[in-house]
Amino acid sequence: MEKTVKIGLLGAGTVGSGVLQVLRENAREVSLKAGASVEIKTVLVRDAKKQRPNMEGIVATDKIEDILEDREIDIVVELMGGLHPAREYMLAAMEAGKHVVTANKDVIAQFGANMFDAAEKNHVGFLFEASVGGGIPIIRPIMECLTANRITEVMGIVNGTTNYMLTKMTELGEDYQTVLKEAQEKGYAEANPAADVEGLDAARKAAILASLAFNTRVTLPSVSVEGITNITPEDIDYARQLGYVIKLLAIAKDSPEKGVDVRVHPAFLPKDHPLASVSDVFNAIFVKGNAVGEAMFYGRGAGSLPTASAVIADIVSLARGIVNGEVREVGFQVFGQKQICPIEETVSAYYVRLLVADMPGVLGAIATAFGDEGVSLNSVIQTRKVDNLAEIVAITHHVKHRRIARAQRTLSALPVVTKISSVIRVETPPTMEVA
Ligand code: NAP
Ligand code: HSE
Repeated sequence: MEKTVKIGLLGAGTVGSGVLQVLRENAREVSLKAGASVEIKTVLVRDAKKQRPNMEGIVATDKIEDILEDREIDIVVELMGGLHPAREYMLAAMEAGKHVVTANKDVIAQFGANMFDAAEKNHVGFLFEASVGGGIPIIRPIMECLTANRITEVMGIVNGTTNYMLTKMTELGEDYQTVLKEAQEKGYAEANPAADVEGLDAARKAAILASLAFNTRVTLPSVSVEGITNITPEDIDYARQLGYVIKLLAIAKDSPEKGVDVRVHPAFLPKDHPLASVSDVFNAIFVKGNAVGEAMFYGRGAGSLPTASAVIADIVSLARGIVNGEVREVGFQVFGQKQICPIEETVSAYYVRLLVADMPGVLGAIATAFGDEGVSLNSVIQTRKVDNLAEIVAITHHVKHRRIARAQRTLSALPVVTKISSVIRVETPPTMEVA
C-alpha cells in the first residue's frame, strides 16, 4: 500500500481493546478495503504503564497533546466515554484538522449539533456508527440507504445490558444484582451502569435515532425515560402467565398531528411479537418508511468485538476518503425543529398491578375509579393473596398517558387500595377508539 492512514486512539477499554484486536487480526482485509495501510500510532489511556494486548509498536500515553499535536495522525478515534473530556478532545482534534470517529452517544445526544458544526467548519469527517446498536449497522442505513423515505417510526431494543438482564431474569429466574454483574463482566454495561438500567443509555440512542430519522434535533431532555429498576420477578411472572415478555423499548414516532414522540420504557410485548424473541445482548430496530415499509436491523448491541466492527467500518470509510481526497463531512441534515409530543398525550394499553383489601365490592370500586378517569378495562385477574391482601392485575384498553396517571392518583386515594405495585405499558394494537 502506498498510503498509510494513522490513527490516534482515545481509550483502550472494552471497545478500544476490540479495535486494537480486530485491526491486528484483519489488517490485510482492512487495508485492502481502505486502499491504504491503517495503523494505530498512539493510544491515550489513563494508565499508560499498564500492559495491554495488541500494543506492539504502538505508543501508550496519558497526554492528549501526543495525539493532537502529531501531524502524522489523520484520524482520532474516541472510545473513552462520558461527556468530558471526550467532547473537548474531539473538538480539539477537529480544530487540528483530524477526522473523528466515536462511539460516544452521551456526547452526540447532548452536543450533536455542536459536533456536526465543528466537523463542517474544519472540513473533517465525523462518524459515529457504533453509538447506536453496537455492531448493527443502523446510523448509515438511516442516513443513506433509507434516504428516499419519509420515516415515521423507529422502534426497538437498543440497550444490550438491560436486554441481557431481562432475558436471564425471565428465562433462568436469576436475580437483578447477579445479572447486572454478569452484564458488567461481559463488557456490555456503561462505566456507570445506572445509565443502562435507568434507561438513559437507550434514551440517548433514541434521541440520536429520532434526530437522524426525522431530520430534526432531538436531545436527551426531550426523551421521556423509564428504566427497568422497578421491574420485579412478580411482573415478569405475570407477563409470562398472560402471554407476554417484558422488554425495554425505545420508541420514536413522527406525525404531523402530534409531532415527535420519543420515549424509552419497559413494555409487555406479546410472545409472538418479532421483538419478543430478541434475547441476551442482541438489539433489534424497526424502521418504518413510506416507501420501504418496515425494515428490521438485528445483531449484537454491545460488547468489545461487535462494537469494534462498527468503529472500524467508520475508520475504513474515512481512510477511503483520505486516499481519494474526498472525505464527506457529515451526512446529517436538519429541515427545521419539529414539535415534541408531551408524554401525557402518548397512547398505550397498560398493565396495572395493585394490592387491595380482600372484601366484597372492591373490584367494583376499582373499576369505577378507572372508569371515572376514562380508562376502560380489557381484563382483570386476581390470582393470589399477599399478607391477607388480594393482588389484582388489570389490563386496560388504549388510553392517553394523562388518563392513566390520573387513574393512578384516584386509585391511590381509595381506602381499599393498599399499594399500586406496578404500571407498565402493553404494546398491542388498539382494539377500540382511544378516549
Ligand atoms: P471502558 O471500558 O471504560 O474504557 C474506557 C477507556 O478510556 C479506558 O482505556 C480508559 O483508560 C480510557 N479513559 C477514560 N477516561 C480517560 C481520560 N480522561 N483520559 C485518558 N484515558 C481515559 O469503556 P468502553 O466500554 O470501551 O466504552 C467506550 C465508549 O464506547 C463509551 O462512549 C461507550 O458508551 C461506547 N460504547 C460501548 C459499548 C460497549 O459494549 N462497551 C458499545 C457501544 C458503545 P484506562 O484503561 O487507563 O482506565
Ligand atoms: N451499555 C450499552 C448497552 C453499550 O448495553 O447497550 C452499547 O451501546
